[in-house]
Amino acid sequence: MADERVFAEAAAEEPLSELEPADAFPGATAELVALNDELAKLPTGATLAEKVAEKGGLDVAVVGATGAVGRQMIDCLAERDFPLRRLRVLGSARTAGETLPWQGNAHLAADDLELHEGTAEALAGVDLILGAAANDIAMALYPAAAKEGAIVVDNSSAFRLLPEVPLVVPEINATDVAESHGIIANPNCATIICLVAAWPLAKAAGLRSMVVSTYQAASGAGRRGMEELVAEEAALALGEPVPEPSAFAYQLALNLIPQIGGFDARGYTSEEMKLQNEGRKIMHLPALRVGCTCVRVPVMRSHAESVALRFERPITPAEARELLRGAPGVRLVDEPAVEPPARRYPMPLDTSDQDLVYVGRIREDLGAEDPSRALELWCCGDQIRKGAATNTVQIAELLLAGE
Ligand SMILES: NC(=O)c1ccc[n+]([C@@H]2O[C@H](COP(=O)([O-])OP(=O)(O)OC[C@H]3O[C@@H](n4cnc5c(N)ncnc54)[C@H](OP(=O)(O)O)[C@@H]3O)[C@@H](O)[C@H]2O)c1
Repeated sequence: MADERVFAEAAAEEPLSELEPADAFPGATAELVALNDELAKLPTGATLAEKVAEKGGLDVAVVGATGAVGRQMIDCLAERDFPLRRLRVLGSARTAGETLPWQGNAHLAADDLELHEGTAEALAGVDLILGAAANDIAMALYPAAAKEGAIVVDNSSAFRLLPEVPLVVPEINATDVAESHGIIANPNCATIICLVAAWPLAKAAGLRSMVVSTYQAASGAGRRGMEELVAEEAALALGEPVPEPSAFAYQLALNLIPQIGGFDARGYTSEEMKLQNEGRKIMHLPALRVGCTCVRVPVMRSHAESVALRFERPITPAEARELLRGAPGVRLVDEPAVEPPARRYPMPLDTSDQDLVYVGRIREDLGAEDPSRALELWCCGDQIRKGAATNTVQIAELLLAGE
């Protein structure tokens, strides 16, 4: 994957030939470099179309099926009529033996699905694995399954920056799936929402840099994050002591927490660096510069983001609105000049439980040296759907079409 090699060079600011193997991509460890080399030996060009034709449907496994993303994936497979022959749902030993509801689709009738523990045996013979579990589970299960011939689309961050693993947002770089050696990564949720909004403008005017502030919902931390916010709000409403936080570092209700992930030596968090590292890889812009502040907010669902974009060429807010009006995956919601209730801009309550990224508040960036080449915008999207589950199923659909 030539683009990612260029990306690695730019990220390290020295030629790849002068690097130790472990410096070959951001976050590389000896284990990841060895895994990348192993994946490189597997064939590319995997498609699910032949298996559907041969078997009449696919054996699909959802790993992490009881979590926020996993449950949504199951609903997306139903809603989008994914060609299932069998659906296996896997969780931890804690929930093995319990059942999950399956609403059914045109290919697989409604029924309860029995949960099994996520093990290599439980994945034997599966055609497609949709990953919605943590990095350690991904590392333990998916490379071996890919070697056995399964295709994996994973939501953890374990494989995202590996050069041999495509990192895909179908509205931006759908053709990258052809370079997969069995594992395809779903990007970080805040990154997907930002890039679906920024990409149509980047294509038109050439993107040089972005400054992003995120307002990320509690559900971004999974089921425990949602439960913690609900419990804190309930305690506050009843005038009771707020329970000790465990999913977040501090109380989230009535608060904002300017930390998502661990800090690096420069003071950026891991979540903030994803916007730059993953953004470069997805948009094939190895020199893109991104400054970012990620903030957890007491919203249940849907991430919102303030995005400042600096371009190579001049672009006006009117042009940007025209480009975004017809862009895939985008809904333009930018009517600030009218009186309420007709006044409209993107908000989490409006964007939850649907798949589009809403974009509004588009204006010249007066803080830029050349405001004619700089825009500010505000975008908002359901990070469990478009930021995770829907994007994952869309990637699988690309493989069905053999793209
Ligand atoms: N939440 C989001 O908005 C979001 C967005 C993008 C990406 N992601 C990523 O998606 C992944 C899942 O996130 P989430 O928010 O859905 O987390 P979550 O709600 O905490 O769910 C975690 C899931 O992992 C399962 N699990 C735990 N140990 C397991 C094991 N040994 N084998 C198989 N499954 C096991 C849990 O099953 P039990 O119920 O049995 O414990 C549960 O189903 C994470 O990598 C996360 O970073 C999340």
